[in-house]
Formats: sequence, structure tokens, C-alpha cells
Amino acid sequence: MKSIVVKNLMKRFGDFTALDDVSFEIESGEIFAFLGPNGAGKTTTVKILTGILQKDGGDIEILGYRNPYPRREIEVKRKIGFVPDEPDIYPYLTGEEFLMFILDIFGNPPKMRSKMRSLLDTFEVDYLGKMIRDMSHGMKQKLVLVSVLMREPDVIFLDEPIVGLDVKSAKVLKTYLRDLANSGKTIFMNTHILEIAEKIADEIGIIDKGRMIAQGSLKELEESLGVNSSLEDLFLKLTGEEKDIEPLVKELEE
Ligand SMILES: Nc1ncnc2c1ncn2[C@@H]1O[C@H](COP(=O)(O)OP(=O)(O)O)[C@@H](O)[C@H]1O
Ligand SMILES: [Mg+2]
Repeated sequence: MKSIVVKNLMKRFGDFTALDDVSFEIESGEIFAFLGPNGAGKTTTVKILTGILQKDGGDIEILGYRNPYPRREIEVKRKIGFVPDEPDIYPYLTGEEFLMFILDIFGNPPKMRSKMRSLLDTFEVDYLGKMIRDMSHGMKQKLVLVSVLMREPDVIFLDEPIVGLDVKSAKVLKTYLRDLANSGKTIFMNTHILEIAEKIADEIGIIDKGRMIAQGSLKELEESLGVNSSLEDLFLKLTGEEKDIEPLVKELEE
């Protein structure tokens, strides 16, 4: 079953076109890596999919709900989760207060509380007494992760999730995401880091300058460019930056 279908998505900021005719489909139970250089349109896409920004054109379906969903917004938002790249959460709450607040919004169900406890263990979140403003980027990111994963959403959006994490937390997250996908959840992950896409994604979409330039499994993408080409070569080739690297490196050496 397809859990996300995006067709001909358009987004403009003034007269700048951030997303130009973007289309892709994601199956339930898959880890989808949305890969692209800085400014490609990844965050914009995820903000539209999670209902933070409005699209200017095209069609989106998530879990069978067609966007926009004026009367079913809460219903949809209950089933999805979003871990943004900038964890801007209430600076004057402690970690504990923040989690209690989220639990309360959902009616404090025992199942969510016990899930929360096991996630706090898994991600080694042992700083709940600290105020959020005193937490590092990675600490806040893990707190937000726990607050989203404890709800067990069917579709989980993560924007550059590995960037702020230490090596162990990153490894734990990757393993956890794989388990979630195996249990039927859909993972949508933005990343500009090839290695992450290469290591954990079932399906990779590549975007550049607001346009989709490829989608497929790693194997399919590599095969489409001939044997022995790595995702790195492929990525540089597709984004047209292959030729530009050497002079850049030379310039640095000079
Ligand atoms: N609110 C905004 N107003 C104007 N331009 C924006 C806005 N948000 C994003 N952009 C532009 O849209 C493009 C895509 O941005 P973004 O989706 O954040 O890229 P990515 O996440 O792939 O690095 C960039 O050129 C960015 O400057
Ligand atoms: Mg981004």
C-alpha cells in the first residue's frame, strides 16, 4: 500500500519557485531518504507534507487522506509525526515538563507513558530535569524524537535527523527506524548526507533546485548509471556538480 503519493507539487516564495513539479510515491513499511544539496527543497517538501506550509499546486495523499483536509486535519496529524531539523521547543520548560505537556495533549494514555519510558532508556535521555534552553542541539533533538515516537505514528517525518546526534545515538536511531519500518511504519527522512541514504534507505529520491531528478532503490539508481558507479558519483552527476569539484579542491590547495 502506498502511504504517501505526491504529484506535480508546486511551491513558490514570491517569484522564487522552491518546488517545481515534484512527484514521488512511498510504500508503507519503507524508509525513504529524500536526498539533495542544501537549498534543494527538502525542508519545504516536508513542511508541506506535515501541514506547516501550504502548497501552490499539485496533489498530495497521505495514508489515503487527500491534502488539504479541512475537516480531518486533527485526524491526519494524530497519525503522523514530525521531527524538525531545528528543535525549537519551549525553552523555559524542563524536558520532563515538555513530555508531560505532550502526553496531556493526547489524554495521557498508559500505553504512551510506558512507550515514553522505554524510549527514554533506548535513547539515553537522562537529562529530563534540565531546562530546554540549556540543552544542546542533539539533546533537544532526542527529546523531540521521544515525544514523537512515543505516539507511534504511522508516518514519521524526520528532517536531517542525524546531524546533531553523537555516534551512538545515531546508530541507535538508525536501528530503531529500521525496526519501525519492518513493523509497517513509513519513514520519510530528509538528508544531505549520502552515506545515510546509502546505509538505511529502501528507496531514495533525489531533488535538486526544486526538481525531482531521480527515484529508486540504491540498486536501481546505481544500475541506471552503469556498473561500479557509487551513489556519490551518481549524485554529483545528477546534480551536475561532478565537473565542479576538481577546480574547487585545487583552489583550496593553492
Ligand atoms: N520562507 C521562505 N521564503 C523564501 N524562500 C524560502 C523560504 N523557505 C525556503 N526558501 C528557499 O527555498 C529553497 C529550498 O529551501 P529548503 O526547502 O529549506 O532546502 P533544503 O531543506 O533542501 O536545504 C531555498 O532556496 C530557500 O532559500
Ligand atoms: Mg533543510
